[in-house]
Amino acid sequence: MNLSDKKATLSFSDGSPSIQLPVYKGTIGPDVIDIRKLYGQTGMFTYDPGFMSTAACESAITYIDGDKGELLYRGYPIEQIAHKCDYLDTCYLLLYGELPTKEQSQGFHKRILTHTMINEQMLSFLRGFRRDAHPMAVLTGMVGALSAFYHADINDATQRDIAAIQLIAKMPTLVAVAHKYGVGEPYMYPQNNHSYAGNFLHMMFATPCEDYKVNPVLERALDRIFILHADHEQNASTSTVRLCGSSGTNPFAAIAAGVACLWGPAHGGANEACLNMLTSIQKMGGVAKVGEFIDKVKDKNSGVRLMGFGHRVYKNYDPRAKLMQETCNEVLSDLGLEKDPLFALAKQLEKIALEDDYFVQRKLYPNVDFYSGIVQRAIGIPVNLFTGIFALARTVGWIAQLNEMLADPEYKIGRPRQLYTGAPRHNIG
Ligand code: ACO
Repeated sequence: MNLSDKKATLSFSDGSPSIQLPVYKGTIGPDVIDIRKLYGQTGMFTYDPGFMSTAACESAITYIDGDKGELLYRGYPIEQIAHKCDYLDTCYLLLYGELPTKEQSQGFHKRILTHTMINEQMLSFLRGFRRDAHPMAVLTGMVGALSAFYHADINDATQRDIAAIQLIAKMPTLVAVAHKYGVGEPYMYPQNNHSYAGNFLHMMFATPCEDYKVNPVLERALDRIFILHADHEQNASTSTVRLCGSSGTNPFAAIAAGVACLWGPAHGGANEACLNMLTSIQKMGGVAKVGEFIDKVKDKNSGVRLMGFGHRVYKNYDPRAKLMQETCNEVLSDLGLEKDPLFALAKQLEKIALEDDYFVQRKLYPNVDFYSGIVQRAIGIPVNLFTGIFALARTVGWIAQLNEMLADPEYKIGRPRQLYTGAPRHNIG
């Protein structure tokens, strides 16, 4: 951390002496005020539910400028990464800080693509779930269960690196077996000759009865979905992984905590919720009913939100949504689905929302999930698996952030304070 020339002076209206606090400068983005000594010097805590103004850590992995609508992985703009790199090179970048050379890239691809099998006993564990269990329930359990099969000492950097490789390699297998189990089809074992995305398509859609040929357009689309979801700095699930890992727990268990957090509709569950929303508007009458639906969204008493719109950090168009829209056009055109009614509906919803005062004033723009559901549906991925795909892609971000925290000699167990509003001490009877 760079100490800036500035110092923050905090004064209190109750007459307490004012105090000086150090200010740190990042490479880009807002400076931060170091309040670690605040309690010691004043006896007061800060209060910031939802972390609206609190930086919980220092990080060199991902940067978002929400006002500009900019996303950088290790300093590289997401648009360049999406157009010039594949997902595994992106994983390398997030984990190790720089894009790989050709040899490093080949070595990393090989390392990942030869660790894709899961311990066969994991399948017995899977069979304990009901067939109709939500795939995110299955994944939360299965990722947690990896800790029982693959041992990793969180304090050892080499073992943390091995855990990172195992997680990135095995997540597609876990998502695919969760899907196959749900639909009652035989599991398809990974095949190392495919790309990362191609192998996932194979495990999802091949059957032992006939040859399966990977469609390169769908392969590229899936790879892009993975890239766009790979990391997003200190979001709810990443912060969950950091907090969980800060106790020194097993890394697979910490990632399972991230999967659990991601499930919610305000976070990774939004892609599933967005597609369900589009389907229900379609059932109501489609494009003709968009105005009525938007009125409902604007009515605070309705409890209805426009899913796939709005973001805590982006107060501009989410740059990932633009890239996802590009992919959406490519996939629908390849599959001859340009006239897909849900896509037309999404475009109309977006158009109206972007012109409406309610959304303009609150700076609500489409986020990545607005279009990712349409792409996934076109690929043939069931709606209830969308968040599982997100979890698969975000695993690299979680593990990169966890490893960054653990490598920092200054890290401490996370332990927020509170404003207690319960009963004061009193006696029984
Ligand atoms: N539809 C309608 N109104 C909305 C929406 C929405 N999608 N999002 C925010 N608003 C309104 C709120 O009602 C609030 O209005 P008010 O100021 O009149 O009370 C204002 O915009 C600010 O909203 P907050 O909920 O305070 O914003 P916050 O930063 O806490 O929430 C969130 C961000 C959770 C993403 C929110 O925009 C939302 O619920 N969006 C829909 C779900 C979604 O798409 N989530 C995916 C996020 S991206 C991701 O995780 C990959």
